[in-house]
Amino acid sequence: MTSAGMSTAAASIKEGIIATGIDPTSWAYAEDYTGEDEVVTGARASAEDSGISSIGPGAASALSMLAAAAGAKAVVEIGTGTGVSGLALLRGMRSDGTLTTVDLDAENQRLARKTFLDAGIPSNRFRLIAGSALDVVTRLTDGHYDLVFCDADKREYTAYLHEALRLLRPGGVVAFDNALLRGRVADPSHRDPDTTAVRDLIRAIRDNDDLTSALLPTSNGLLAAVKRA
Ligand SMILES: C[S@@+](CC[C@H](N)C(=O)[O-])C[C@H]1O[C@@H](n2cnc3c(N)ncnc32)[C@H](O)[C@@H]1O
Repeated sequence: MTSAGMSTAAASIKEGIIATGIDPTSWAYAEDYTGEDEVVTGARASAEDSGISSIGPGAASALSMLAAAAGAKAVVEIGTGTGVSGLALLRGMRSDGTLTTVDLDAENQRLARKTFLDAGIPSNRFRLIAGSALDVVTRLTDGHYDLVFCDADKREYTAYLHEALRLLRPGGVVAFDNALLRGRVADPSHRDPDTTAVRDLIRAIRDNDDLTSALLPTSNGLLAAVKRA
């Protein structure tokens, strides 16, 4: 729920920021389909207080589902925030799996740690690394990971893709949030650096014959791809 007591999807309708062609009622129904518990709504509230955005409810459900479908045991996240997406990943992956999550901001990571612990996730199932994404992920092991989720600096998205393809095992999944940027990506009149960077990423994924991908119009757009075995 938002501070005004509305669901995130309902607030998005009110603000007129739905980027999909689906009718608003069905979109809200799909966004709220799984529902969210108090730990997640608390993490969203902390993010709002800290001035950062969290992945939307529909994209969070999709991430849990992708982690489960991949039977993920080792997951990398770029952009921890207050832990909304990280918790979705932890809940979808194997119960003995580990999330490695990277963020520039140590205070965000403190809040994410609280989110994970409040949700009952044992501390040995997550590794919070404070630092710049490209400094950290370049040190992680090749081919060791089942899923990489990216939600940090959009201008680095194509570099994250490059690193993700190195980190993933064959059959592993890479996913990016903000693939629609509230209608900006699909509207050619928008040429700001973030929008251009997301379009570059979309092209790089679509044109890569080693990837099978889908641009899911859920929340703010979730671009997901499987690295062919
Ligand atoms: C949109 S928030 C992530 C939200 C989170 N995925 C969630 O759903 O809860 C983006 C985060 O990326 C971090 N960030 C931005 N640029 C970064 C970079 N170059 N390296 C690492 N983290 C970065 C910010 O500090 C912020 O916490």
